[in-house]
This record gives sequence, structure tokens and C-alpha cells, in this order.
Amino acid sequence: MNEPLVLGIETSCDETGVGIVRGHTLLADAVASSVDEHARFGGVVPEVASRAHLEAMVPTIERACETAGVRLDDVDAIAVTSGPGLAGALLVGVAAAKALALGLGKPIYGVNHLAAHVAVDQLEHGPLPEPCLAMLVSGGHSSLLEVDDVTVGVEPLGATIDDAAGEAFDKVARLLGLPFPGGPHIDRAATSGSSVYVDFPRGLTSRKDLERHRFDFSFSGLKTAVARWVEARERAGEPVPVADVAASFQEAVCDVLVRKALDAATTRGIEDILIGGGVAANSRLRAMATERAADLGIRVRVPRPGLCTDNGAMVAALGAELVARGRTPSALDLPADSSQPI
Ligand code: KG4
Ligand code: ZN
Repeated sequence: MNEPLVLGIETSCDETGVGIVRGHTLLADAVASSVDEHARFGGVVPEVASRAHLEAMVPTIERACETAGVRLDDVDAIAVTSGPGLAGALLVGVAAAKALALGLGKPIYGVNHLAAHVAVDQLEHGPLPEPCLAMLVSGGHSSLLEVDDVTVGVEPLGATIDDAAGEAFDKVARLLGLPFPGGPHIDRAATSGSSVYVDFPRGLTSRKDLERHRFDFSFSGLKTAVARWVEARERAGEPVPVADVAASFQEAVCDVLVRKALDAATTRGIEDILIGGGVAANSRLRAMATERAADLGIRVRVPRPGLCTDNGAMVAALGAELVARGRTPSALDLPADSSQPI
């Protein structure tokens, strides 16, 4: 028998994603982003995102089917992000998925957004190493998770206690006059800067903090430190060396992320780390994690950047895994749950 053909829908934030997979093979990954509409506000506006999902949903489904060369009738199951995320945005995806499941008479699987970020890696690197330590770093979350079976759930070991890593990238980019979303711009600017120009603070790494927050992150102090440093320069009438500040800030974020991920993996006796979420596209993070992990005999898997940011393929990937492992589908009255536990 053919492996199941699964269509996945993602609308938890500002990307309308529709992915189609057959087993571990990616057939289509159509994404329509409303990021440009949010840029002038410096962050995602929930109402704008919901409306954009509504407009983009049907064309994105059509585009995915066309790319995959399949008809909706061919699909064996529908998967959809049911949470966590923006309530109104999630609702659009869940409603669309229900309509498809009902109309086609196919099962629906509500999936967790974070677990989907983990599952996507199998489309690029094959079956997931389980157990693995997943570090998800995006505009909405920064979490360390232990994954024993991605279809059952993920166990949170730690998370940010204030800003998410991507949020810190976006806020610092704004301070430096770089466009939104700031992560890729900081990444690019940093390539011509010095990472040791400013020794910015590493949040929650003091001995005392580690007692309570060993696997947690904090990036708001770092963001404030960058703001103070930039303000002091401006007050003194001196130019701000954007590339150097970007590189030093990026180094501080990556240093903490990698240190804590390696600490969590070694503590739990896990030999594989998987990094996902938009910030996993960061070139310094990828290089630093791979290099430091190799010294400890730990393998690091990071999907290509296009699969790290929000997309429908990751939802379809987890859906395909749920089908393959014989998990029970969700009920047709599946709710969208913005604060869904991971
Ligand atoms: O996963 P994602 O697309 O959406 C959320 O679920 O948040 O992540 C978006 C975040 C943004 O904060 C963006 O600035 C950041 O990922 N990002 C990066 C890079 N590319 C995207 N951060 C650092 N370096 C990058 N190359
Ligand atoms: Zn995400």
C-alpha cells in the first residue's frame, strides 16, 4: 500500500501554510505570509493575521495541490495546527481543515505547533531520532523539550521566562534601525561585525539562576542592555557600529541557547539535538551548536531554513506520523486552543 497522503494546514501566527506529504516525502509546501502587512507595526497584529489567513486559505490549498500534482480527493488525512498560537488565526485553519475533512470524508488530526516544528525534520533527514532534545526558538517560543515519541507529545524541560529568542532579535533589530522581522537582518549584519565587540549579558547563567532556571531562558535583560549601550553611544554623539552590536548580541543569544541545550541533553543522557523554529535559520546558531555538540559526541539536526519557519509541511509531517503510528484521529468538533499545553 502507498504511504498516506496527508495535507497539513498551519495558521497559528502570520503564515498561512499548506503542506502535502506522502509519508516522509515532501510534495508541496505552499506558504502565504502576511509579514509585510505587520512590518509597519513592528510585530504581528492578530486581527490583521486572521483576515490575511481567511483570504489566503483557499488559494494556498489550491497552490499546494497543484505543486504536489494531487487532487483533494486523493488526500488520505487532514492535519491542522490546533494550538498554541493566536486564537483568531488558529480558528481560520481549524475551520478550513474541518470543512475539508467533512467534505472529503477523511480523518482530521489536530496537532500541536511545537511538536510539528520537531516532526518536520524527518522530511529532510529521515526518521526522527527518539529520544531527542528539541530546542525550538522562534518569535513566539523558546523552549527545550524532551521528545520520546513525537506523536504522543513533548516534555517541556524549560522555556523563556520573558521574551522569546526571535522576539529579542526583532526588538534589537528595531533598535539598530533594521527592518522587521529582524532576525535575518541581524544575521546578515553580524557577518561583518565582531562578536566580542561588546560583552553583553548571558541571561540566567549565574550559579544562583541556574538553581531555579537551569533550562530556562531570559532575553529581556539582554535586549535592555543593548538598548542602554546604543543610547549611551547616541548620547555621546558617536555612531553606532551596527554590525559589531549585531554580532555581539547574536553571540550572547546563541551562547546561552547552545549552552543550555547541551546541558539539557547531557543531563538527560540524550545524544541527538534537533533545532527548529525561525531562529534555527540563524547561521551562527547552526555553526556554534554543531561545533560544540561534536566535542561532546552529540549529533545536531537542523532542518533547512525554509522548514524551520512556520509552514504547512511540518503539520503534514506530524499528521503523516500520527497516521503511520496508528493514532486515533481528532473529533470533528476539535477546538482551536490558543494556550494548548505542549
Ligand atoms: O518560526 P517563525 O517563522 O514564527 C514564529 O512561530 O514565531 O519564527 C520567526 C522568528 C522571527 O522572530 C525572526 O526574526 C526569526 O524567527 N528569524 C531569525 C532568523 N530568521 C528568522 N532569527 C535569527 N536569525 C535568522 N537568520
Ligand atoms: Zn512556530
